[in-house]
Amino acid sequence: MLNILPTGAVLGASITGIDLSRPLAQDDLKTLIAALGRHGVLRLPSQAINAAQLRDFSSHFGTLEVLSANGKGEPGMPEVSILSNVVHDGVLIGIPDAGQDWHTDMSYNRVVGFINVLYAMQVPVRDGQTLGATEFTNTQAAYEGLPEAMKTRLAHATATHDFNNFHEHMRRNRGSKRPALTEEQKRERPPVSHPLFLTHPISGHKVIYANPGFTVSIDGLPPDESRATLDFLLAHILLPQYRYVHHWTVGDVLLWDHIGTWHYARSDYRPDEYRLIKRCQVLADRIFEPGFANAA
Ligand code: SIN
Repeated sequence: MLNILPTGAVLGASITGIDLSRPLAQDDLKTLIAALGRHGVLRLPSQAINAAQLRDFSSHFGTLEVLSANGKGEPGMPEVSILSNVVHDGVLIGIPDAGQDWHTDMSYNRVVGFINVLYAMQVPVRDGQTLGATEFTNTQAAYEGLPEAMKTRLAHATATHDFNNFHEHMRRNRGSKRPALTEEQKRERPPVSHPLFLTHPISGHKVIYANPGFTVSIDGLPPDESRATLDFLLAHILLPQYRYVHHWTVGDVLLWDHIGTWHYARSDYRPDEYRLIKRCQVLADRIFEPGFANAA
């Protein structure tokens, strides 16, 4: 039997009574999906799992993204990425700067991201304080807080999302050593449009589906108006009342709903303070299938 303990903040709940090293019961999947719709970010503490168990658990929620062709993934398991600054024998074993600014994963895909599932194996600690927290903001609560006139004016708007935008931002402003995308990589991920106010497939409520990482314009608006409107929306979503911080403990599995949140991995630790997290990214394919959100 799962126990759900909400944080009481604008996002977040801890869920106990589940052991991810064992097969997932159908009723538990249903409970987790409903809890994602209600709380957005779920912490399943004290797990002890291997990469295959992380992958198998994550795959109950939808198709897994394969992003590890760069050699920074779990050997032989391209659905499991390693996010890490750990160096073994002079070799960096993971992606050291994943997610280090505000974004929503895979909003640049035609089939957008549904959830991330992260498993914390090493967490940096300095003077008794854990570092490398992950911050979130609630785009469903932010939609509710918009002026009514804006909700009406933009009710049918769509916005363009472009993978290259975040990639270049990280290279320019964050000192990332990622190489520029090749023309072929850009062609593989062309810009896509999604509704600006998307209906969440679990809660049925509207969210503001735009983020600073990937959203580049509101379709059909003159460039100045598009930029000004996006700037307003992005600043609104970052207001303190919509924000939540997860401080990691080794053994945490954290699931979060991309459709109703943004996230940001804090880079407040030194290269010799190791952080090691394994990650699966789940696409929003099954969650938009009729009935899946309720009948999983
Ligand atoms: C991510 O953007 O998926 C990384 C989040 C984190 O490492 O906390």
